[in-house]
Amino acid sequence: MKLTIRDLDLRGKRVFVRVDFNVPLKAGVIGDDTRIRASLPTIQYALEQGATVILASHLGRPKGKPNAEYTLKPVAARLSELLGRPVAFADDCVGEAASSVVNATHAAGGGVVLLENLRFHAEEEKNDPAFAKALAALADAYVNDAFGAAHRAHASVEGITHDIPRAAAGLLMEQEIKYLGGALSAPERPFVAILGGAKVSDKIEVIENLLGKVDRLIIGGAMAYTFFKSRGLAVGRSLVEDDKLDEARRITADAAAKGIALDLPVDHVVTTKLEAGAPSEVLAVGDAAIGDRLGVDIGPQTIANYAAAIGGAKTVVWNGPMGVFEIDQFASGTNAVAQAVANVRGTTIIGGGDSISAVKKANVADKITHISTGGGASLEFLDGQTLPGVAALAEK
Ligand code: 3PG
Repeated sequence: MKLTIRDLDLRGKRVFVRVDFNVPLKAGVIGDDTRIRASLPTIQYALEQGATVILASHLGRPKGKPNAEYTLKPVAARLSELLGRPVAFADDCVGEAASSVVNATHAAGGGVVLLENLRFHAEEEKNDPAFAKALAALADAYVNDAFGAAHRAHASVEGITHDIPRAAAGLLMEQEIKYLGGALSAPERPFVAILGGAKVSDKIEVIENLLGKVDRLIIGGAMAYTFFKSRGLAVGRSLVEDDKLDEARRITADAAAKGIALDLPVDHVVTTKLEAGAPSEVLAVGDAAIGDRLGVDIGPQTIANYAAAIGGAKTVVWNGPMGVFEIDQFASGTNAVAQAVANVRGTTIIGGGDSISAVKKANVADKITHISTGGGASLEFLDGQTLPGVAALAEK
């Protein structure tokens, strides 16, 4: 069991909380504040305990140099609105600019400080020990709530834990480990995984790891076409990874050998081009009438099959859309899967930015047991990899 923030004595302490405030931002406007909201329970808990809360995050990939496009200032403003209290902003994450703001807040009896983007220093991504020490110098305790960045062995995620002992999980991190870890280690059965999205190559390890754990694996999205082509079926101009045909055959054989149902679409929506309003038609998978058109969504029979399979599940993990859901005309399959997952009477877990957008678009986000804030991190977790940010947390 990992140590959590509840195991720390935070009264009168300065606590460094690594959060993942890597939110979509355009010209200073936050597109989606889910990740900020997701860390509120940890921040509020630390405040209730009487701590000075020092928040640190990366934003985007500014390549180790200060860059106004990636400042966390708009995040400080949004966080202050959500918390209903001031958030002091430090123009740097280390040195005098950081310590003066932290010390002033601490001397005033506590409060919240947000440090400027960690990635304005190249040392953050290099996991530089001196930089980690400089971060650690700001605080007495360390909490990691940044599940979304837990797959990065960076200074604020890993290095700093060598300087501040008893690294603890924040409440969000604890939830992520509980649901994702629980699904993989002790799922209530039937356990169904749904994988979609464009590339098989992104998800080969995930598929392999899940084949050892699930009762049924449902495949949708463009990655299905690599499987179809590997079986000699007509795919027209659909997206196929030709260098992954052998992998697709191996996965098919592996699922059969393990007795695990590997569901692929039986019908699909095909079109001439990826454009709203483009003429489209439903065809059986493999029908040569596809010609030079491409597949963009699962068809109605497949939707019915998948909804039935998902409906019987007790645990569901879903990552990746069933089609080009950004275009409404090709979003029916993804919407139907979102609805089916929302109707499950059991534990439902969603990971990955696209599937999160899909459940939000289908208006069913509140019916999902756990929506992971991690994109890459949740995939690596499902791969069965040990995430450096999780490994660095102290055991109880
Ligand atoms: C994410 O958005 O997946 C995390 O914040 C990690 O960001 P990164 O891929 O730039 O490290």
